[in-house]
Amino acid sequence: MIKTVLVTGASGQLGKCFQKLAVREEGIDWLFMDSSELDITSNRDLNNFFNRKGIDYCINCAAYTNVEKAESDQEKAFEINAEAVRNLAKICKKNHTTLIHFSTDYVFDGTSKIPYSETDHTNPINVYGASKLKGENYIKDVLTNYFIFRTSWLYSEFGHNFFITILNKVEEKATLNITTAQTGTPTNANHLAQLVLMLIKEKSTNYGLYHFSNSGETTWYGFANEILKVSGKLNNVQLNKDNSYKTIAARPTYSALDNNKLLEAFKTPLKSWKNAVRELYKSGIQN
Ligand SMILES: NC(=O)c1ccc[n+]([C@@H]2O[C@H](COP(=O)([O-])OP(=O)(O)OC[C@H]3O[C@@H](n4cnc5c(N)ncnc54)[C@H](OP(=O)(O)O)[C@@H]3O)[C@@H](O)[C@H]2O)c1
Repeated sequence: MIKTVLVTGASGQLGKCFQKLAVREEGIDWLFMDSSELDITSNRDLNNFFNRKGIDYCINCAAYTNVEKAESDQEKAFEINAEAVRNLAKICKKNHTTLIHFSTDYVFDGTSKIPYSETDHTNPINVYGASKLKGENYIKDVLTNYFIFRTSWLYSEFGHNFFITILNKVEEKATLNITTAQTGTPTNANHLAQLVLMLIKEKSTNYGLYHFSNSGETTWYGFANEILKVSGKLNNVQLNKDNSYKTIAARPTYSALDNNKLLEAFKTPLKSWKNAVRELYKSGIQN
């Protein structure tokens, strides 16, 4: 039977990864809606949309993701990442729709020395992390048939992300000062989209909260170094370690995620972050 899958925030980075996958997927009726077509903060628009279409899965890629701006734009961040998500969860409940949602490693304060598991204490240290955590909690309150994937340091061939930024800097022959003050795991957004597609196709009912990242950990400096290495451009730029990098929003110094629950539930191997970087570069982003 054909399933109907709504993707909100469809023109963002992760939304575009789903659009790429959808091209070769049969058996799914995809509804890709960007922010101008379906604003998740509009209760009326969401209700109208769900009333018109029978939706089996809602993949919510819509989010306020500007971590720096969120510090001075708190109201908007909470409106999109928390209040709208609560409303979306309620509409999913009314329509018997499974909600698939994404959250972040920034729900943690970074004081751990080992990867965070789903049961570890959350304590966000910036507005973005706090707004995303509130969104998670609303979903858990309202729904039973949900999947929440906390992920970290997403990159892909789409949108604004660290991977693309570094490759663009190569063209400018720039000097790059990249921080070593944060450790986490870069995650290829295409891999996350592939996992979600798999669970829809398998009609998984392993609902709940999961951590999803590529395996291993590094710093932003290590990530930049690897991108330059796989692209053969390490000698084209001056790459420096920067220990004094300042941001408006506080960032957890350590935020690697423990993927064991996910590995157990979905029996799917996770690529190492280095292999994932190489795979994306080889797939065609070759400056
Ligand atoms: N990027 C990361 O490093 C990272 C890390 C951890 C977790 N995550 C989570 O992963 C998910 C996907 O992130 P991403 O990298 O794909 O983010 P993204 O590229 O910023 O995409 C977010 C999308 O949401 C849309 N949007 C914003 N407000 C909306 C609204 N009111 N109604 C409908 N759409 C709206 C944006 O549209 P406009 O551009 O038109 O506003 C944008 O297309 C998010 O939940 C994010 O919190 C991301």
